[in-house]
Amino acid sequence: MNQATLHQLKVFEAAARHGSFTRAAEELFLTQPTISMQIKQLTKSVGLPLFEQVGKRLYLTEAGRELFNTCRQIFETISQFEMTVANLKGLKQGQLKLAVITTAKYIIPRLLGPFCQMYPGIDISLQVTNHELIMDRMMNNMDDIYIMSQIPDNMEVTYEPFLENPLVVFAPLHHPLANVKNIPIGQLGEEPFIMREPGSGTRSAVQSLFDEYGVKVKVKLELGSNEAIKQAIAGGLGISVLSKHTLLTDAAEFSILDVENFPIKRTWYMVHPSGKQLSIIARTYYDYLLEAAKTINEQGIIPPHSTFLVDRSE
Ligand code: PGA
Repeated sequence: MNQATLHQLKVFEAAARHGSFTRAAEELFLTQPTISMQIKQLTKSVGLPLFEQVGKRLYLTEAGRELFNTCRQIFETISQFEMTVANLKGLKQGQLKLAVITTAKYIIPRLLGPFCQMYPGIDISLQVTNHELIMDRMMNNMDDIYIMSQIPDNMEVTYEPFLENPLVVFAPLHHPLANVKNIPIGQLGEEPFIMREPGSGTRSAVQSLFDEYGVKVKVKLELGSNEAIKQAIAGGLGISVLSKHTLLTDAAEFSILDVENFPIKRTWYMVHPSGKQLSIIARTYYDYLLEAAKTINEQGIIPPHSTFLVDRSE
């Protein structure tokens, strides 16, 4: 193993976690031949095959599984060391890794502005993805803080409610039901419906409500992004249920239908695995978000200035 590099281990870890060279390449912004080459060299250093292909699927060999566990331990140790160093540097320099569900992308980047101005030495990585992939990231301890609407029940987490995230029925601006009051929920079954992809938290919340009331919607289209769904609604392809926050920039282009049992009440939570120690940077950001949420709740707007900043730079 003397020849193996940390980079090769990173590539291997990603390929093993995804069970796919293609997805590892996407995650690491590398090409697939680079991934194959790195794994080939690592395999040579180990002296045993790490993967085996059965049909189209890629499996870890026993040596691969052992190496995967070893990689986890190595990266965990490195991340603890990084945290120690980050804490020694205080808030002057370091990294903050955030992963947020798709609906939160309408707010979180705006709130990052004042934070970055206050702590210019901090580099931020922000991943925006759906509920299922956020869960994956959390299981693999990839970020400092997660923002999501559904608290995981299969792992111990620490969480704090952050902001409300109501789900409402979106329709084109001049939809015939636009001015109708108290529309029975069953009537949604008559409309072409646009659904988020499997793995989306919005989709599962919508599906539970429909199941509860025995509503069968005609899913005309399934799309993996809130923005794409909004464009499809604007294009007259149907109606959908989305977070009200997705309307932040273009409320005038849609109607929100007054349907029984809506809005579906949801809340965004700030979450991190209970065992994970937050760095000073992550803790400062955590407090900052809580303060910002208070201001948003009180004033109903995203504050344009940084009055809610917590100064921990001393
Ligand atoms: P989604 O997340 O992007 O997975 O639908 C939204 C939510 O859970 O509120």
